[in-house]
Amino acid sequence: DKGTYPYYMLKEIDEQPNVMRKLAQMYLQESGKTNVEPELVAAIKEADRIHIVGAGTSYHAGLVGRKLFEKLTHTPTEVHVASEFAYEKPLLGEKPFFIFLSQSGETADSREVLVNVNAENYKSLTITNVQNSTLSREATFTMLLNAGPEISVASTKAYTAQIAVEAILAKAVGMAKEQVIAEEFDLRQQLGLVATGMQAIIDEKEEIEDLAKEYFVDASRAFYIGRGIDHTVSLEAALKLKEISYVQAEGFAAGELKHGTIALIEEGTPVVGIITQDNTASLTRSNLQETLSRGAKIITIVRQALAKDDDTIVIPDVDEMITPLLSVIPAQLLAYYTSLNKGLDVDRPRNLAKSVTVE
Ligand code: M6R
Repeated sequence: DKGTYPYYMLKEIDEQPNVMRKLAQMYLQESGKTNVEPELVAAIKEADRIHIVGAGTSYHAGLVGRKLFEKLTHTPTEVHVASEFAYEKPLLGEKPFFIFLSQSGETADSREVLVNVNAENYKSLTITNVQNSTLSREATFTMLLNAGPEISVASTKAYTAQIAVEAILAKAVGMAKEQVIAEEFDLRQQLGLVATGMQAIIDEKEEIEDLAKEYFVDASRAFYIGRGIDHTVSLEAALKLKEISYVQAEGFAAGELKHGTIALIEEGTPVVGIITQDNTASLTRSNLQETLSRGAKIITIVRQALAKDDDTIVIPDVDEMITPLLSVIPAQLLAYYTSLNKGLDVDRPRNLAKSVTVE
């Protein structure tokens, strides 16, 4: 039941701070220990490579996960678009470990990969929102997102819950591997900061609606740009805008724009820069300037510590490894309000189903 909310999507965006608190409580002890199945931790600990598989938003959560697993567990990690796996089959080492990300647990493209993984007797984990879903039943291990039902076709709280669970798992494995960075990563406290930070952004949603009206409602195309982890969020931000507002949006590596795509920037084209990392902030800012001088209308989503006076949306400070949990929130709201103000059916966009059960 969506209660007083006009659409499930807004309700689900609003639920994210609580989902973060719940996951911290479920999976993280005050002492810094994690409540993750020891057999699961052991299986990933001995893996020579982690392969993350997902589709759409879940794939995008995997791109963030790769960075978390590599940093916290020091295990080489690859991310695969489920429907491409069969054709881009990675060369597997002795001990691969597979992580399936799927909100519904029913996505046919991901299931097809899991069937093949099982045929080879490789170990796997499904991170899903639906207990007893197909992908959960067929994998060796399951971790639940506990985000509550996600009804809107546009996935929001599943993305942030998937990233939080990946961070929890990466911390657990990193600690088992005695990685100092994992031991020192106070994720319980960080998820608390994330919850408060999400709420602060959501509380400013009227301002984000104004931006959506000013920049996107009449636009035919738009760009999100960023580097590194911000690039992965730009892909998710663009997908959100495309699927519910039908604005043709592209997420782009900020430095790659000038190698061709910048030709698409015209007078008034909206370009959103995501800037949350110390080492890339000034480079992304210069890439934004390049679009500005070609007529782009710019929005910035910037982490507080890096913010300047003329930035558009400032998000609270959290550890650099988990900034997507906050930088995606304005993008979700921009997509929501663009769709709403275009008079579209936010929860049920054309041509799409909530769960894609055909290959
Ligand atoms: O249920 P899943 O997480 O496996 O679904 C994967 C995609 O179909 C899904 O994320 C889709 O991209 C959403 N509509 C994105 O908002």
